[in-house]
Parts: sequence; C-alpha cells; structure tokens
Amino acid sequence: MSASAAITPGDPCVLVIFGASGDLTRRLLLPALYHLACDGLLSDRFAIVGCAMDEWTTDEFRQRMTVQVRQFTTRAPFDEATWSTFVQRLHYTPARFDDADAFVRLRTIVTGLDAEIGAGGNVLFYMATPPSVFGLVSRSLHHAGFDVLGPGWKRVIVEKPFGHDLASAVELNREMLTYWREDQIYRIDHYLGKETVQNLMAFRFSNGMFEPLWNRNFIDHIQFTVSESVGVEGRGGYYETSGVMRDMIQNHMFQMLAYLCMEPPVSFAADAVRNEKAKLLDAVRIMGPLEIARDAVRGQYGPGRGPDGAPLAGYRQEANVSATSGTETFAALKLHIDNWRWEGVPVYLRSGKRLWKRGTEIVVQFKRAPDVLFRASGADQIDNNRLIFHMQPDQGIELRFHAKVPGTLLRLQNVNMRFSYGDAFQASRAIGYEVLVYNCMIGDATLFSRTDLVEGAWRIAQPLLDAWSKSTPADFPNYEAASWGPKHAFDLLERDGRRWVEIINRDVLERVPLFAGADPLFLNELLLILEPDVFEPGEYIVREGEEASVMYFIARGEVAVESHAGTVVGTLSGGDYFGEVGLLHAQPRNASVRAITQTDVFLMKRRAFAKVVGQRPEFAESIERIANERYSIAPTTAPK
Ligand code: BG6
Repeated sequence: MSASAAITPGDPCVLVIFGASGDLTRRLLLPALYHLACDGLLSDRFAIVGCAMDEWTTDEFRQRMTVQVRQFTTRAPFDEATWSTFVQRLHYTPARFDDADAFVRLRTIVTGLDAEIGAGGNVLFYMATPPSVFGLVSRSLHHAGFDVLGPGWKRVIVEKPFGHDLASAVELNREMLTYWREDQIYRIDHYLGKETVQNLMAFRFSNGMFEPLWNRNFIDHIQFTVSESVGVEGRGGYYETSGVMRDMIQNHMFQMLAYLCMEPPVSFAADAVRNEKAKLLDAVRIMGPLEIARDAVRGQYGPGRGPDGAPLAGYRQEANVSATSGTETFAALKLHIDNWRWEGVPVYLRSGKRLWKRGTEIVVQFKRAPDVLFRASGADQIDNNRLIFHMQPDQGIELRFHAKVPGTLLRLQNVNMRFSYGDAFQASRAIGYEVLVYNCMIGDATLFSRTDLVEGAWRIAQPLLDAWSKSTPADFPNYEAASWGPKHAFDLLERDGRRWVEIINRDVLERVPLFAGADPLFLNELLLILEPDVFEPGEYIVREGEEASVMYFIARGEVAVESHAGTVVGTLSGGDYFGEVGLLHAQPRNASVRAITQTDVFLMKRRAFAKVVGQRPEFAESIERIANERYSIAPTTAPK
C-alpha cells in the first residue's frame, strides 16, 4: 500500500491467469482489471493470457468476458471505449497443468506478447485455481523455463485457502518456496483489498487522539463480528471441508485483528507492516482443551424462515452436505493477546452464515468513567464509550458517548457521532481486487500475507480445528437460519458481564409495531439502548413471581405466556413485546414466558425503561393502554 501521493499506472507486464475459465476470473478478477483500465492504472504495455483446461480460443475468451465483465462490474455506465481497447489485450491458451507441451506453448505466447508490447520481461502469474495445484503449476512453469525468462520481474499471486491446516500450510509454503523467492509470492486475502480494512491502519496512525488510548489502560475489550445472511451458496462440498474457522476466521478475521491491535510499524514498507502483524499473531495465546471448552462456541444453522417468511434450508439440507454433518457454520471465540499492550483485554470474535443480517463490525469498548458523580441521580448509569468500525455493507466509523439531556436536570443519554464514507468521499465502488492486483504490479507486498503470517494464523486456529474434528455437538443444528446465532455465543460474553453490541438500524426497529412511525429522535435513542439476547426453545425468559428488571421486544421467534397453573394463556411472536407490566407497576412478574422456538429479543433494562417512560409520555401511554387491554390492569403512574 503506497503512502505516496502520485498515482501512476502499474508496471508493464504480461498477466497469466491460471483458472481463467473459472468463477473468480469472471466475477472478480476481470472486472477489477477492467476498473483499473478505466482509472488509467494499467500500463499501455499490458496483456493478459488466460489459461485453463477448457478448449477455448482467444475469440471465445474475449466474447465470454465481454458478457461477464458487463454483468459483474460494480460501475455504471459501462465504459465501451475502454473495454474495446482492453478486450484486445485478452488472449487464451488451453492447458492441463501437468502438460509440459502446453507450458512450452504458453511460454512461446508470453515471450511473443512480451516482445510485441514491450513488457520488459515482467510476468505476473495469477493462480485462480484450487490450492492443490499451486505446486504443480509452479513446477510446470519452472520446467518450461519461465523463472529464467528475460530480464524483468516474475511474481505469483495465489488465492486462499492457503493450506487446510497448519501442517498443510507449512508444506505448501515449502513447496512454493522451492520455485519462488518469498518476495515473489503474493498471497491474497481479499479482505485486505477492502477500503475499510486498509483504513484501520490509516485511522490508528494518522489520528493523534486515539493511539494514546489504544491499550489495556483504557480499553475494556474488543469485539469483531462478521455476520453473513447468505448460506453456503451452492458451495456445500467445499464448505464441508472448511467450516467458518477455516473460511473466515483463520484468514479474514485474524487479518483485521492484526491491523487493529498491532504495534505501529516503523514505516509503511511492506516488511515493516508485516513484521508487526506477524508479531501480533504470535502474541495471541494458543488455546488448550480447557480454554476451548470454555471460550469457544461453535454453531450450525438449522432450517428457518427469512425476513420475508420464505423457508430457508438448514445446513444439513444444503446440496453436497452430509445429513449428519458436524461442520461449524458459526463460531465465537474469546482470545487473549499476551503482550504488554493488551494483557487482560479480551478479544471476542464471531462469524457465521445464515444469520439475521449481513454486517462486519469491530467494536472497541473503552473502560467506563467512574460513576461517583451520577450515582446519586439514580436513573443514570454510566455506560462504556464505544468506537465502532462499520466495515460493510455500511462503511463508516461511529463514536458512542454520553451527552446531557437538554433541560433543567443533569440527566445523561447515550448519543453517537458518525462518519460515513458515502458522505465524505466520491470513490467509485470497487471490488477490492483492484488495489491488490495493482499493488502486485508495482511490487508492493504490504497487503499480502507472508509465510510467517499465514503459519501464525494457522497456529492459533489449529487447536480449535483439532478439538472440533473429534466430535459433532449433540445440539447441532443449534441456531435457526436467519436468527441471531446460537445462544451459547451470547452466554460467552454474559458470563464476563458483557454483551455483543448488535448493530441495529431503524428498519429493524420499525418492524416492531410499537415503534413503527415513531419520532426519529426516539428511534435513534432506542438504537443505542436496546441490547440483544437469544433464548433457546423451551427456555424460560421470565418466571412468575420474579422481580421485573427488563422489558423484552421480540425480534423473531415465538413465546408462550403461561399462567400460574402452567397453562398457556397466549402466544407472542416477532414484533410483540412483553415484560412491561412488572416494570410499569414495580411489581413481580405475574406470568411466566417461555420460548417456543429460538427467540431473539431486544432487552430494555429497568433504568433505560424508566428513562424512556419518563421522557416519552406517548410511549408510556401506548404501552400502558396495550397492557390494560391485554391484561385488564388498572392504569397507574409510570415507575420512578
Ligand atoms: C470468502 C468466503 O473468503 O469470503 C465466503 O469463502 C464468504 O464463504 C466471503 O462469504 C465473504 O466475503 P465478503 O467480502 O462478502 O465479506
């Protein structure tokens, strides 16, 4: 990642794509190259040679890409003029990766193009292939004499997954390093192509106000969430051998962890940054069996219903997935970083497929201010300040803190300040591969993984993979498709007196009928005070006779309201709420509520409830009125 201001086109080169007939090439790589062409970031002396087993001709390759780049570009309108020049740079040659003659033909094509366009002998090989053939392709290139070809540079980009576990990653590194030098190998992690991920470093090291606080003295804990609403998208066969630990956590999430927590590098030179990332991963405590049993949660989605009510298959019902599969589609972990800066600051990570929403967020939760001054006021509780990085699909940074509620009393409310990329920048939407391929063309390896980083990440993941491969949890599947994930993931933080910060938006709140059409200021307030929780089928959420301390809003699921005798007197589901009567009347619970299905709820705790009711008479009136209708209770005043 160059820190210089001048943007110049990449070096002249011939780009050879292995796996050119595959999904990655048409969906990501070619559209990204076309974007680079639109931005003037490709050299005039540039050509592409597609290579794969399909017996296509150059014309066929050009025709197919003309259709597919149009389909997968993220930019509109399509730049016909740029494409008509770009498409002339595309060439194709069929090859089996173990066919020596085919590689000799490839060499003839590459040297011919090199001479024709004047690429100076620079050749970039892109392995858009399964990792099982990285070694084979490297060997075939070597035997065809590519590594001694001409004067220019030779570089290779390899796609993830880089290895299947620690041992295979070490072996793959060894094999690759037989044919290439470390500085020629560019291992891609597409998360590093995301603007918001690159911004972590820019944010930390260009703003003087945060870095002094970035340590155990001021930070309580850190949360990383990568939530996906999609399932395995037809990739069941691959996913069965992967699971979320290999697919998301070992690579993308550990990369973000490294950027967020590493020490400042001495410069932005590739190795200076990569040294710090590697040191950080080395400091992550390796989990033993006890920690895994206590601090790691795995989940698998079962059938459920999407937000539109349409049925969604469970993981075990997906194509090419075993009906008894033990593969985890969700995981949550509590990690520790054993270094001077982070000692004692837990880092929680979670990721899963088929969750209620798509969203990648990082929450840095600061320690609370002492509440001596506000304790006396009773209704105000000092909350933690939070810095939230919205990585995708929302892109921005949010700071949550307290402000005085206008009025004669000194009352506090959680408020936020938010920076959105869309408001500040006019950048065209990128795929993420643009910056990666461009950086490789200019020889900047900052955004690529080095041998030690890849192996360091596997070292952290390996004990979990080992432990999880031994058994399939009896409760699998343990979360419903389109839900908030398994309950145990919530327990993991609750046990430490903490909670996941669930980023909700107004649309979600407005689906709760009580809030539909509510004043936007009120909705903003609610976004900052509601807390998420999950209950399993059969679990009691409140019990008759208990002291009332929380009001519940059902986001999804169904609960039974049970009378004293245990008979069901009613059911409530998504959009309904309960628990307000005990709070309104400061009385014990007059009924029990039990989850029938997995139930995801927002909690409003007593203090927040009292404040909302005190400040929003219209809210107090509507819940009072509904409570009266529901339970035939005489109205009283709001709680103090
Ligand atoms: C890929 C995983 O690496 O990342 C997919 O193999 C996952 O399973 C994808 O869906 C997520 O990427 P993004 O950019 O959509 O967050």
